[in-house]
Amino acid sequence: MKSTLLLLAVFTFGQLVNAQTTPAAKPAEAKMKTFVDALMKKMTLDEKIGQLNLPGSGDIVTGQASNSDIGKKIKDGQVGGLFNIKSVAKIKAVQKVAVEETRLKIPMIFGMDVIHGYETVFPIPLGLSCTWDMKVIERSAQIAAQEASADGINWTFSPMVDIARDPRWGRIAEGNGEDAYLGSRIAAAMVRGYQGNGTYKNNNIMACVKHYAMYGAAEAGRDYNTTDMSRVRMYNEYLPPYKAAADAGAGSMMASFNEVEGIPATGSKFLMTDVLRKQWGFKGFVVTDYTGINEMEAHGMGDLKQVSALALNAGIDMDMVGEGFLTTLKKSLQEGKITTAQIDAACRRILEAKYKLGLFDDPYRYCNEERAAKEVFTDANRKEARAIAAQSFVLLKNQGNILPIKKSASIALIGPLGNNKENMPGTWSVAADFSKATSVLEGLRSVLGTSARVTYAKGSFLDDDSLFEQRAGMFGKSFDRDGRTKQQLLDEAISIASQSDVIVAALGESAEMSGECSSRSDIEIPQTQKELLMALLKTGKPVVLVLFTGRPLALKWENENVPAILNVWFGGSEAGFAIADVLFGDVNPSGKLSTTFPQNVGQVPIFYSHKNTGRPLGEGKWFEKFRSNYLDVSNDPVYPFGYGLSYSNFYYSDVKLSSNTLKAGQTITATVTVTNNSKVDGKEVVQLYTRDMVGSITRPVKELKGFQKIELKAGESKTVTFTISVNDLKFYNSNLKFVAEPGDFKLFIGGNSRDVKEVAFKLL
Ligand code: BGC
Repeated sequence: MKSTLLLLAVFTFGQLVNAQTTPAAKPAEAKMKTFVDALMKKMTLDEKIGQLNLPGSGDIVTGQASNSDIGKKIKDGQVGGLFNIKSVAKIKAVQKVAVEETRLKIPMIFGMDVIHGYETVFPIPLGLSCTWDMKVIERSAQIAAQEASADGINWTFSPMVDIARDPRWGRIAEGNGEDAYLGSRIAAAMVRGYQGNGTYKNNNIMACVKHYAMYGAAEAGRDYNTTDMSRVRMYNEYLPPYKAAADAGAGSMMASFNEVEGIPATGSKFLMTDVLRKQWGFKGFVVTDYTGINEMEAHGMGDLKQVSALALNAGIDMDMVGEGFLTTLKKSLQEGKITTAQIDAACRRILEAKYKLGLFDDPYRYCNEERAAKEVFTDANRKEARAIAAQSFVLLKNQGNILPIKKSASIALIGPLGNNKENMPGTWSVAADFSKATSVLEGLRSVLGTSARVTYAKGSFLDDDSLFEQRAGMFGKSFDRDGRTKQQLLDEAISIASQSDVIVAALGESAEMSGECSSRSDIEIPQTQKELLMALLKTGKPVVLVLFTGRPLALKWENENVPAILNVWFGGSEAGFAIADVLFGDVNPSGKLSTTFPQNVGQVPIFYSHKNTGRPLGEGKWFEKFRSNYLDVSNDPVYPFGYGLSYSNFYYSDVKLSSNTLKAGQTITATVTVTNNSKVDGKEVVQLYTRDMVGSITRPVKELKGFQKIELKAGESKTVTFTISVNDLKFYNSNLKFVAEPGDFKLFIGGNSRDVKEVAFKLL
């Protein structure tokens, strides 16, 4: 039932499209302001503070909305929204309390961690980023929005755009890798996918960009740990993806847990106001992360009253879970520590978000049981997810073209991840029904049909240490131990393997070995699985390692000893099918790494766009005394950024420049011809890098500036053209001015960041 107040909001956010940019949006923006002004005039201070409160969903997840503790708070106008409640019925019941039993009948916003799909689960973000395909990435977010919005959700805590260069950090799985340029393109694509063109139809949801900021640079890769870096590095290497998401019109941002320059991000005026609002002109609202305000007590920033005031003063609008705002802001106001204007500004931004989502027009806009029944986990969505998953896989090695496997071959599928559904969707798949995910075994059998000759054996535990295995098997993703010993598991595997034509070893990490609070100090495949792999190799049969991981692993030994390695990340609900599609060659792999794979954990952080140092190691050298290197390992990664093989072979011609000088206001083009020298149609990501040879600050040895994913039929050649303008050469100098400096540049084009063709030009 709509109240008269709700009927005031007759203007959908469609009229507010790109409110910051188009003049046509101005009247709609003015109408939103009039509406929110009128509403806020009626609101008491307590009701305004109530809007800033985002409690945990507590007993509502299982109980009755109206009689719950949170239900009582909602009735008292103390709740602005809730998150991670699943189903239309539950969400509708809670919304009913808000719009029928509160004084002002203000609807609530409903959030969820829809990180890489809803019930139809796509690859973990790190995997998805390896598609380097913005259409595919946007589409995955669109389908996620379609399903989530059909099931009552209107706000997602995604995209996670934290640049991460330390694979010890488990949350590297949730982001888009190490590079600011690729990360920025993906951030914008995700926002477009969730939010649509800004009109917020009822199948769009509002994005919440996280974790602002620099969360991925946690010291020692330990989650929630301190980050500390120069502003030049922040502006050039870590902030761009958040900015790209803000520029794409993201409706909200989430503050990160870490400190930045000695102040927790949640309390950082520099981040929340100076950069986000003043420099970038961000118009959405900012929510803390889970108890982010309260955690500032442990950071040593004061008691709850003090840190809550600090957060509001910094520019935070909404308090997730901790209720610091709810319980202390009034007192801080009386003491003059904060102002009414600050509370009003925060409240206004949250009401505006609800307005944009059309919730004042129809609070049940996203609560349609029919849609929920029809639009979630559909065959069509699953089909797309399967195709997308296959594109995220990265073929790391394929010696002697072991892959693709002939469909007539008899296959021994071995490994703790071979017949496991729960781990396929990967970390942060809150809405997934694991029983509906496809295991590798099911995938292989389904693709092979009745001719299938696949036998399975577990072969080893995930890890010999059962306590580790428990920690790595949270949230219903545990690995059952059936009482058999390590030796019994191995014997069974070897006996099956010896009778097969090909061994497919499904090994690596479990889904929860990456993700939040899943940092590792050892980034290799667990030892017991390695021992299994060695035993499988000893059979003399061809071995294909199907590698599950949520982070770059140290694969030196595997790269030297295993003939074929297909990195499948965690491919989502359709992972098993997609893996089979690629193993049998129905899909030619085309994924390219968005993070560098080190030789060992000691090289970390290792990333392609590093600085040169004053004592760079000579080209092709392993070690030189008094040069920047290690005694015990070369500087090279096992697999560089941008790397990934295909069943096709791609040959790159030399690069041609339209001119070797570039003037302000003009552009030059770089062209290269790529030929598919094989009998298989394939896709290739053609990558463009530059190097600024002399700068007012030191510049990286390579920076990604463009890429194009092309399709080449067997034997086909295509000319790929990139246009370079002065803008592409800009960076933040030591005064944090975004400038391009005249001088010498190098330009590189290739199929990864290491194997490139090079030319030179001058910026005049
Ligand atoms: C995570 C966020 C997440 C939030 C809500 C936190 O622990 O850091 O990424 O969105 O919980 O579930």
